[in-house]
Amino acid sequence: MKFLKILFSLFSITFLISCSSKYKSKITFMVGGAPNEVAFWDKIIKEFEEQTGIEVEILKQPADTDQRRQSLVIALASKAEDPDVFLMDVIWIAQFSRSNWLEPLNKYLKMSSLSLDIFFKNVVNEVDTYKGKIIALPVYIDGGILYYRKDLLKKFGIQQPPQTWNELINYSLKVQNFMRKKIPNFYGFVWQGAQYEGLICNFLEIASSNNGGVVFNNRKIILDSPQNIKALELLRAFIHHYKISPPNTFTEMKEEETRIYFQKGYALFERNWPYAWILHQKDDSPVKNKIGIAPLPHFKNGKIASTLGGWHIGISRYSDHKEESWKFVEFILSYNIQKKLALNLGWNPGRKDVYEDKELLRTLPHFKKLKHIFNNLIPRPNLPYYPLISETMQRYINASLANKLTPQEALKLAEKEINFMIKRYEE
Ligand code: GLC
Repeated sequence: MKFLKILFSLFSITFLISCSSKYKSKITFMVGGAPNEVAFWDKIIKEFEEQTGIEVEILKQPADTDQRRQSLVIALASKAEDPDVFLMDVIWIAQFSRSNWLEPLNKYLKMSSLSLDIFFKNVVNEVDTYKGKIIALPVYIDGGILYYRKDLLKKFGIQQPPQTWNELINYSLKVQNFMRKKIPNFYGFVWQGAQYEGLICNFLEIASSNNGGVVFNNRKIILDSPQNIKALELLRAFIHHYKISPPNTFTEMKEEETRIYFQKGYALFERNWPYAWILHQKDDSPVKNKIGIAPLPHFKNGKIASTLGGWHIGISRYSDHKEESWKFVEFILSYNIQKKLALNLGWNPGRKDVYEDKELLRTLPHFKKLKHIFNNLIPRPNLPYYPLISETMQRYINASLANKLTPQEALKLAEKEINFMIKRYEE
């Protein structure tokens, strides 16, 4: 009996050793996104594991940026060792760096072949630098764009995508009246109106396209301006007056809901980020080869505006595997992987050099157009308490879309509440 026990223990030890010897060490990577994006990370990670012998466990998150932030904040605020490395929305970085949750990357960069010169200088300076230290690096850059049905515009004799919001309304009404005979729930324009961060991106775009915006000046936010009121009125009118946007716009529409609606062939125009292109163009997509992209429309005397979004990679200050995590950062930002992310997910690389890649431009010719649209990117306020500002704006703007407050009431109340909060933070 004793002999059997010893034999069994020996077996277990050998088994354990052989299991753990495949990898030198293990890191945890927290990431979310649309289902196809999360699935693609599994592939990328396998490649990294094979190349380096470092195992990566993915802690998967949903697509909604606010939910992604919450799960990360819980881990970082409790100084947990995991996750070691993660993606951050551009709007969280100020909060994360002020909270001292991010490992400065300068000492790793010094010994690395990765040079800061390959990134967009203004992005690195304005977003990824805190107190003179690099605390994150851009994985991809986002901007809001207009997707449109080329085939339907042509059918109705419309020469080019709308340049003004009035044109968008007119084209929408014309096409949707006809299309509803066959598809009763066909709508002119789908966009993100649910109560979450995406709504702020949509609001910022339309407000800026009317020469308004989310202005932060002298420690005060200005929201209640005639330009912004007009912009919010228009967003509301899309749903309730012109009825060119579905009634669930303010209850349900986030990126994926919008993308799926348009992809099914139920809408003429869609506001979304560049990731939707690859999915719309998939073989089983009903809109394959029927779509185009354009800058978002603007008010008559306004200008083209697109919200600056995107995701950056950083290492936790509490990570117990910082060297290995840096290897992972280097890998994700390598030319090869940045190109793969662009080709497979339609992401706009954080590195400049990939934009010149011949294969990339051949496979995704719309990248050239995106470059032009990306000249008009508008940032959201880069403040450590931005999530609180956004949360308040989301509540009031969404209430106005739900017809519970007029646009002026909503913006006035949001401005008052936010300025009260800023005062406490800045004291
Ligand atoms: C995209 C953008 C991000 C933005 C989010 C809003 O993920 O990259 O910056 O905050 O959408 O839903």
